[in-house]
Amino acid sequence: MSVRRLAPDAIQPATFAFDATNQAWVKTQVAKYPEGRQASAVIPLLWQAQKQHGGWLPKAAIEHVADVLSMPNIRVLEVATFYTMFNLEPVGQHFIQLCGTVPCHCMGAEDLKKVLKDKIGAERHVTADGKFSWLEVECLGACTNAPMVQINDDYYEDLTTETLAKLIDDLGAGKPVKIGPQNGRKTSEPLGGAKTLQDASLYDGSMVGGWKKDFETRAAAAKKAKEEAAKAAEAAKAAAPAAPAPVKAAEPAKSAPAKEPAKAPAKAAAKKPAPAASRPDEAALKAEEADIAAKIAALPKDASAEQKADAVGARPKGLKAARKGASDDLKRIKGIGKVNEGKLNALGIFHFDQIAAWGRPEIRWVGTYLAFPGRIDREDWLAQAATLAAGGDTEFSKRVDKGAVPTSKG
Ligand code: FES
Repeated sequence: MSVRRLAPDAIQPATFAFDATNQAWVKTQVAKYPEGRQASAVIPLLWQAQKQHGGWLPKAAIEHVADVLSMPNIRVLEVATFYTMFNLEPVGQHFIQLCGTVPCHCMGAEDLKKVLKDKIGAERHVTADGKFSWLEVECLGACTNAPMVQINDDYYEDLTTETLAKLIDDLGAGKPVKIGPQNGRKTSEPLGGAKTLQDASLYDGSMVGGWKKDFETRAAAAKKAKEEAAKAAEAAKAAAPAAPAPVKAAEPAKSAPAKEPAKAPAKAAAKKPAPAASRPDEAALKAEEADIAAKIAALPKDASAEQKADAVGARPKGLKAARKGASDDLKRIKGIGKVNEGKLNALGIFHFDQIAAWGRPEIRWVGTYLAFPGRIDREDWLAQAATLAAGGDTEFSKRVDKGAVPTSKG
């Protein structure tokens, strides 16, 4: 939260008065309140003064509003300094208010802040061309579309670092931009489409007691998964002597990854990556997510990330080290930042072609291990990896190469 004090005297104008149009507007606002209650118009009047003065309130405007409403200056100053909607110092032509409250924070507001610092500079600083400034504020009431920003009078929601960076670039270039959600949602309906109104089962009575059926189905699935896990553990125990030695990784492997064929020449592998498996449809993904959730629910509560991953998929083959000592920059894949690149390297994953060759069992394993349910599919890591392994580029990798993605640096 910013410090709420008036701008330095050096930039304060000597006087302020509403122009003729606003004077007429002020009369209509003040007339809305009973005699003696004109002070109730203080917020609309301050707002109009701010608009007239290019987006910020100088001291003279606060005093002028106090005069118009016959209020002590200090009472109007209290209002102006309390609400962050009133700017007490100059702002950019595109004034960005970033919500930093918990839901937006959990959904990536900190990363958005880095984009703002990178592109605009410090908070409350106006760019040299006067086009941008930004400020972190409290909840703007669009939490279901977190993370979000307000730019002047409009909301831009469901942001990622990439969409916010593009938004700033487009505004700076005077290009048209889309107001509202930036991820394809129309408002705050479920991602992937509304589940209501079109669903006939909502009206035919079949949903009565649905919550109970849902619990019963989950309990049955969890029981079945537990039994299967016990059987698999017994089978693994019986076969233990024949199991190959696990590849050394940051965390000790329970399932034994097969060794990368030592004779496969690295260059050939990079030129001809295994074609990426096609992404399953939404229904199949949901069924898979439910299956994974049931299997994890059957594990002890203190199961490690690796134990959970082992229960739902197959650990991908890892290398002991990057081929020729040079790993690929996995951060060129959208969805992989520095932290997850480190985790993948610790699993022996250093190259794009390794990721492009994953099947469903490996996707389930890595998605569960990284606690990223569904993200590998949503961001289509495999297709990105296949393109990059073949020497091509993606829109995202081009931006990373230009240094335009702060989270992919380093
Ligand atoms: S927490 Fe960001 S809009 Fe509510």
